[in-house]
Amino acid sequence: MTKRVAIIGAGPSGLAQLRAFQDAAQKGADIPEVVCFEKQTNWGGLWNYTWRTGVDEYGEPVHGSMYRYLWTNGPKEGLEFADYSFEEHFGKQIASYPPRAVMFDYIEGRVKKAGVRDWIRFSSVIRWTEFDAATNTFELTVHDVENDRVYKETFDHVIVASGHFSSPNVPEYPGFDQFYGRIIHAHDFRDAREFEGQDVLVVGSSYSAEDIGSQCWKYGAKTVTSCYRSAPMGFAWPDNWEEKQGLVRVEGKTAFFRDGSSKNVDAIILCTGYRHYFPFLPDDLRLKTANRLAARDLYKGVVYVHNPQMFYLGMQDQWFTFNMFDAQAWYVRDIIIGRIEVPADKAVLLADVADREAREDASDDTKYAIKYQGDYVKELIADTDYPSFDVDGACHAFFEWKNHKVTDIMGFRNHCYKSVITGTMAPVHHTPWNLAMDDSMQTYLQS
Ligand SMILES: Cc1cc2nc3c(=O)[nH]c(=O)nc-3n(C[C@H](O)[C@H](O)[C@H](O)COP(=O)(O)OP(=O)(O)OC[C@H]3O[C@@H](n4cnc5c(N)ncnc54)[C@H](O)[C@@H]3O)c2cc1C
Ligand SMILES: NC(=O)c1ccc[n+]([C@@H]2O[C@H](COP(=O)([O-])OP(=O)(O)OC[C@H]3O[C@@H](n4cnc5c(N)ncnc54)[C@H](OP(=O)(O)O)[C@@H]3O)[C@@H](O)[C@H]2O)c1
Repeated sequence: MTKRVAIIGAGPSGLAQLRAFQDAAQKGADIPEVVCFEKQTNWGGLWNYTWRTGVDEYGEPVHGSMYRYLWTNGPKEGLEFADYSFEEHFGKQIASYPPRAVMFDYIEGRVKKAGVRDWIRFSSVIRWTEFDAATNTFELTVHDVENDRVYKETFDHVIVASGHFSSPNVPEYPGFDQFYGRIIHAHDFRDAREFEGQDVLVVGSSYSAEDIGSQCWKYGAKTVTSCYRSAPMGFAWPDNWEEKQGLVRVEGKTAFFRDGSSKNVDAIILCTGYRHYFPFLPDDLRLKTANRLAARDLYKGVVYVHNPQMFYLGMQDQWFTFNMFDAQAWYVRDIIIGRIEVPADKAVLLADVADREAREDASDDTKYAIKYQGDYVKELIADTDYPSFDVDGACHAFFEWKNHKVTDIMGFRNHCYKSVITGTMAPVHHTPWNLAMDDSMQTYLQS
């Protein structure tokens, strides 16, 4: 096959794509030349921890949004690779909420085994992409930042796997410019110990607010105050955590809230989400979507309707992650190698998107949303040779997880679940989450 395929990003989505092509090649298929461009010096995407914030050693915006002591916020049984179980990687079953370093090792294990590292050009930032309708090809402008060299290359397909939880959404509230302390976005949060003994305000009511507030609580913040714009998280918080209505303004060290109350705080952490941000794409190729389950303009959630030679991976809001990226990557691979046909009529592609949006909008219920995304995973894997697995079982683990959080928000990570890949039950972790201060892999894996 003489086709050339570019993948932008070597995080879990880009690595899924590499593994999908390698799997087909291993089974004897003729595959195109695949080149993956990764701006960081290593793979793993967000799971590749960096202490850096702001810009990196080359002046590039730091991609990483993960922090020290981060443990997965959902059970690992919901994300396990169907072709590479945790047991295969670690040689034993492990507890259900691994810290970041353990997850990085697992992600890396599969692609090391596949031998695809040579397909990746590291320290290579995609600066620009253009489509030439005359030749039906894309021209990518690449900056090899290590050698400070800019060059162009031509590809038949582009797969965007650059993530969408890296470029922060940073609102401003009156008085921020005069606040007597630190104001940071979750993207720049690294070590909760920085806030030991402090009164911390977290703005937002989603996963970052919950987890960063919990980290600060665990590592010794004096108090945590969280405030919501639309709806409270509503968990049974510890005594020194108060949840308030939306922030209105700050004055000196005092934060004022919608209900008229106020609180003196030392630091403000904006857990206000991220933006789909693609500075390397022109208007006609750039995905413009909210963070939702039915991402806009993506047929089957992956094919860009305005140019079906272009694909996006992992652009949805995520209940399912690694196994959904796999389902998408196998599907995209099969389109590229001619096993799956994309309808030629654009109206059909748009109708598919509209149907996905309508089905998502039909309910606000969390269980419905989890099942919706589970059904999407099933839909894609039914059309490829990605190993079939018990997606309903994974949904069930998510339902249980939700209940465990309601029962004990600081204790939900002490529960364990059954693998839907190997059928074995995870062991109870040796230390409850709130007492486990050391997040190293060595400590976590001790029996
Ligand atoms: C704080 C935080 C915690 C999370 N915790 C969990 C969790 O517990 N469980 C879970 O399942 N999911 C979690 N997630 C969700 C996370 O989005 C996925 O797990 C996963 O990392 C997404 O993979 P990705 O490859 O799509 O994107 P990313 O991991 O963001 O990887 C994208 C890659 O693209 C590269 N890139 C970007 N732009 C360019 C460019 N112009 N040129 C070249 N390369 C580029 C980046 O350097 C990066 O390596 C978390 C997200 C955040 C922000
Ligand atoms: N340990 C972990 O594994 C972990 C930890 C953190 C994050 N994550 C992951 O990271 C991803 C992103 O999560 P996220 O919480 O950062 O983003 P998110 O889910 O998109 O939530 C954004 C939050 O910001 C609020 N917000 C947005 N603009 C605001 C404004 N101007 N003022 C006040 N509030 C505002 C939103 O409120 P509205 O509801 O009003 O819109 C929402 O509560 C998720 O996939 C999550 O699972 C994982």
